[in-house]
Amino acid sequence: MRRTWIGTGWKMNFLRAEAEAYVDELGVALQGGVPEGLQIFVVPPATVLRAVRERAKGLPLLVGAQNMHWEESGAFTGEISPAMVKDCGADLVELGHSERRAMFGETDAAVNRKVHAALAHGLTPLVCVGETADEKRLGAARESVVRQAKIALHGVPAQRVSEVLLAYEPVWAIGAGGTPAEPGYAAQMHAALRAAIGEVHGAATAARCAILYGGSVDLGNARPFLAEREVDGLFVGRTAWKASGLVALIRIAGEMLPTRRKQRLEAS
Ligand code: PGA
Repeated sequence: MRRTWIGTGWKMNFLRAEAEAYVDELGVALQGGVPEGLQIFVVPPATVLRAVRERAKGLPLLVGAQNMHWEESGAFTGEISPAMVKDCGADLVELGHSERRAMFGETDAAVNRKVHAALAHGLTPLVCVGETADEKRLGAARESVVRQAKIALHGVPAQRVSEVLLAYEPVWAIGAGGTPAEPGYAAQMHAALRAAIGEVHGAATAARCAILYGGSVDLGNARPFLAEREVDGLFVGRTAWKASGLVALIRIAGEMLPTRRKQRLEAS
């Protein structure tokens, strides 16, 4: 049965002392462990990745990088390689966030190369896909996210596809100017993504893939999102930039686990 994921990307925030204080606060809250079926992760900036990993030792917490290059090493000034990410103790790597696509020219093809590199290095790729406001307005939202996901997963062997985490993050929903998607709308997009994965890699594989929602998640809408069977978790920015925010989201997800389990059993 698919797990429920709660994670946060810190974007370009947090110096080392703040990052460590965050993990310490989270550590206190996670002392009793997290319920089975719930997976927590944080995605700090690369500069504090190792510090966060070390500080989080013993906690049920996965740690990820926000980006990486696909090449092993070489003349790529300013980039970090999959081996470097792994060397910092990361478990996962976020790829194709809309800010990277819009501001740093990350293409679908680049995301695909990075997915392959991540899998080759034992890192879980967390691939973000999402339509822009214009694509939504013009009726091409599904096509856009399906294209992004299909290209990201191109050439990944069927037995490894479910190792890739997807995050559906509509561009218009992200950040200070964003409006959260309606949970029902997000669920439809998740279903469209799952159907597209099924088309290429088979329905059984698609059924095992985790698809998270991200974009203006807060303590008010986390519950309705998690009430959707298609939503396998939440990938959160601002609301979880304080440890107390992430802890509150973990609590909500924990409370919803029994209902989610039942829902899934009924559907299978
Ligand atoms: P937000 O960011 O929760 O602050 O909207 C989400 C994201 O960029 O993943």
